[in-house]
Amino acid sequence: MDGSGSVERADRHPGDSYEDILNRDSRPVPSYLREGRVPDVGVQPVAASRYFDRAFFEKEARFMWSRIWHMACREEDIPAVGDHHLYEVLGKSLIVVRTSPTEVKALYNSCLHRGRKLVTHNGCKDEFKCPYHGFTWHADGRFKENPIAWDFPQWKDRDMRLPEAKVDRWGGFIFVNFDANAKPLAEFIGPLAADFERFDWESRTRTLWIQKKVRCNWKVLTEAFMESHHSFTTHPQILGSLGDANSQYDLPNDYVSRHFSASGVSSPFLPPASEQEVVDFMLGRRRNPIADADKEHQLSEGDTARRYMADLTRRGLTETLGYDYDDAADAEMLDALLYNLFPNLSFWAGHGTKLTYRWRPNGLDPETSIMDIMMHGRWPKDQPRPKAAAAIELDFDETVSSIGLPGLEGLAAVFDQDFSNLPHVHEGLRATGTGEVHFGRYSEMRIRHLHHMIDRYIAEGEAASTAAGAG
Ligand SMILES: [Fe+2]
Repeated sequence: MDGSGSVERADRHPGDSYEDILNRDSRPVPSYLREGRVPDVGVQPVAASRYFDRAFFEKEARFMWSRIWHMACREEDIPAVGDHHLYEVLGKSLIVVRTSPTEVKALYNSCLHRGRKLVTHNGCKDEFKCPYHGFTWHADGRFKENPIAWDFPQWKDRDMRLPEAKVDRWGGFIFVNFDANAKPLAEFIGPLAADFERFDWESRTRTLWIQKKVRCNWKVLTEAFMESHHSFTTHPQILGSLGDANSQYDLPNDYVSRHFSASGVSSPFLPPASEQEVVDFMLGRRRNPIADADKEHQLSEGDTARRYMADLTRRGLTETLGYDYDDAADAEMLDALLYNLFPNLSFWAGHGTKLTYRWRPNGLDPETSIMDIMMHGRWPKDQPRPKAAAAIELDFDETVSSIGLPGLEGLAAVFDQDFSNLPHVHEGLRATGTGEVHFGRYSEMRIRHLHHMIDRYIAEGEAASTAAGAG
């Protein structure tokens, strides 16, 4: 396409597409930003019971959560040998421990004697000693001591090291998998990892971490961050600079899905705005050191809000961090570029400090969940790596705004809007008169695909357990 006009499609918003917007940008557009694989995922409704039925939840736990790669923590959470970080999901608990400067293990956090959890907090240890009877393991999982060894003839000549989950790593994140036969993480995360090479995620640290409990099924929570068009009603205050209904969606592989929403343009739901109006709107909402220093911000003839704001963001980042962003695409400065890794992780792409989300069931409850909201960014050039931000825990009725995050008040308000909406989504799913949920063909394809993938894991797991039973 040459940028001379939009191609109207029956299954897309009739206005400017994300591609049209990219074609007017100030820099060459990297090819990864163009729409990729858009398979036909169908239009069949799904059963509302998938969001609250305990039997379905138990199938997800047994056949899906037990086989996927979980993001457990960051490398900087366990910088020294012996440092350990607990990762807990669906009643499982792993001690993610650094066993050498380059090696990390994920030990099952359960005493092999009578099962007590060996540790209940993150920290640094050279051994894990059970607080119940004192059975002890080295920090790398090797068995060390049984204070009543004479009474355990059955342990003699047995390898009593702590069982381990698989560990893999990408971008400064440490992943774990409960499946001993799991394929390497790269086989799942491949397209995401390739696109993120532009952003050097290893050289970032966690600048913010909020852990929020929400009264809804984990999928209700996850799906609220897989499309942009709910902004029209849920977040009307951000529409002045968000291309929501004309976002771009695709599925690079079965495990990675994406959606890109333009900034620096107003929502197609709104009456047309001038480029200057979009700039004025954005400067009223954003913090930027360059913007704050210069109060004028009048666009010259022919300039666009998007080009102007991308340039302002580029200069602001360079001033703050000391790196050169001259080659970065406008989209990489401004847009919401959301990548998901199946089933429960989302990484925002781009330069600057970016969001990462993780969604999990809250313990073994199908009807409540936990969302981790993290931000990862670079620190100023030539300065030492700062300490990673610790988790701020928010209970069901606590708001993100109550934390008081300077410069992030607008973002906090957006999350609070989602978190006040989602319990009513869950309640409505239980209250349904049809038993069905419907998804849009294009703009909700990522959500529909999430359900297809869950079904695939359950079907594979059930087939394998039937075969095992038959054998
Ligand atoms: Fe939202």
